[in-house]
Amino acid sequence: MCLAAAVVLGLLSSVVQIHADYRTQFDLLSDTVRQLVQSAAQPAAEAVWSLNEELANGVAEGLLGYQPLELVVIQTSNGIELARKTRQKASHGTLHELSKMTFGGPTEYRIDLPGLGGNNKNEIGRLLVSFDPYPVAVVFFERSFTLVGTGVLRNLVLALVLFLIIYGSLTRPIEQISRFLASTDADNPSGQRLNVPAPHEKNEIGRLMRRVNDCFASIDRFLVQHREQQISLEARVAERTTELNIAKQTAEQANKVKSVFLANISHEIRTPLNAIIGFSELLKNEYFGPINNEKYRDYAFDIHFSSQHLLTLINDVLDLSRIEAGKHELNIEETDIGQIIHETERFIAESAVEKHLRLETFVDQGLPKIWADERSILQVLLNLLSNAVKFTPENGTIKVEAKQDSSGDILISVLDDGIGIPNDKIEAILDPFTQLEPSEHANAGGVGLGLSIVKSLLHLHGGTLEVESEYGSWTRFTAHLPKERVVPSKNPRKPAWHDEAETTVRRISA
Ligand SMILES: Nc1ncnc2c1ncn2[C@@H]1O[C@H](COP(=O)(O)OP(=O)(O)OP(=O)(O)O)[C@@H](O)[C@H]1O
Ligand SMILES: [Mg+2]
Repeated sequence: MCLAAAVVLGLLSSVVQIHADYRTQFDLLSDTVRQLVQSAAQPAAEAVWSLNEELANGVAEGLLGYQPLELVVIQTSNGIELARKTRQKASHGTLHELSKMTFGGPTEYRIDLPGLGGNNKNEIGRLLVSFDPYPVAVVFFERSFTLVGTGVLRNLVLALVLFLIIYGSLTRPIEQISRFLASTDADNPSGQRLNVPAPHEKNEIGRLMRRVNDCFASIDRFLVQHREQQISLEARVAERTTELNIAKQTAEQANKVKSVFLANISHEIRTPLNAIIGFSELLKNEYFGPINNEKYRDYAFDIHFSSQHLLTLINDVLDLSRIEAGKHELNIEETDIGQIIHETERFIAESAVEKHLRLETFVDQGLPKIWADERSILQVLLNLLSNAVKFTPENGTIKVEAKQDSSGDILISVLDDGIGIPNDKIEAILDPFTQLEPSEHANAGGVGLGLSIVKSLLHLHGGTLEVESEYGSWTRFTAHLPKERVVPSKNPRKPAWHDEAETTVRRISA
């Protein structure tokens, strides 16, 4: 590549020089012929005037001394030739043709010889010359050939010298850098460095090599730091894992203790509590005869109400602790959600009627059965519905809906147009013992365990609970049960959406 460029450059510079030489030679040839002929005009005129053939032949001979001239004729004005001298044609080969192409073919040149005293008006004869540029062209060609040869050779030598200099000072060190980079793992140079050759100590190559070494040195430093951090991190992770294991064991132990404690306490409390409920019921109903004192009767009512409330609370606490301790066993069977909804309605119908609430249920007619613990699903619905009844003012509406969504999941929702939940409390109400401020729903009762139990029971079924609400307007709780729980149907159907025609609608109104 480099050599080819040198040859081309040599040729180009030679062509420029040859062209300049050609122009010079071309002009020089015509000028020389013209000057020769003009300088020979005077002796030729003398020879004509004196009809001196010897002089004329001498002049002609002298002119032929100039190589390109081929023919010289001196004649008088009336056509008597005093001298005619010709030169043997040099060659008619290819070179001659080339000469014709570049310098042109033989050319005639004629001047009239003036009379004596330089009187041009009385011309006394003529001097005719014919010249062929061939000898000049041959010399020109030889010179051009030498010029091209030496030009190319000179450039070749120059290119070679330059190549050696560039190779030694640039290419070789760059190759060394590239070999080093290729053979070194940039992610882990492990102390490998480039040797900076002495001649490059102070130049750019040396600087480049030192920069590469600096980069690898910082990678090495980074790796060392990284390894140290990794070791300390692993140690910390191990330490934290041990701490967490200890904390987990402690928590599990505490949980066990709590469960045992609750089981014992519940047994110990429930037995006398049942007795209190039973006896207070006998009292308030005046089973063994009338109570004459009004106050005693009121107390009997209060004792009965409070002990029942306490029993519900104890049952809820026990349920939740059993679920959390993983002791709540699910009895999984084919469960008909529509049926469960129907049953829960019966439980809350009385309190709904008392508050003049309108209860509507929408069950998708082709709703498939699910694999679930029937008692748990019943409790989920009961807790959600009892909340809806509790937090919906008189004459409100509660809607229960069960359907299958487009992904195949089963959705059971309870919507009421009650007091609603403030946006910032929506997440908190799912935590145990969390109730909204009393001012927000005074006298609603309960201890704040219902939703925690719902969430935990759904979780045991692989499901979730979704809450949506607009404070002061409405609340919707939706239990999501995953499609994996759906019992495969022998007659698969298209899920129907709120389609009255395919939906079982039941309304309980006061
Ligand atoms: N449908 C609803 N509308 C408005 N607020 C509700 C509704 N359901 C629940 N809440 C709010 O969430 C709180 C927690 O409900 P949760 O069912 O856990 O407890 P509770 O009903 O107060 O008591 P419990 O269920 O233990 O008898 C309720 O106290 C109430 O403030
Ligand atoms: Mg509740």
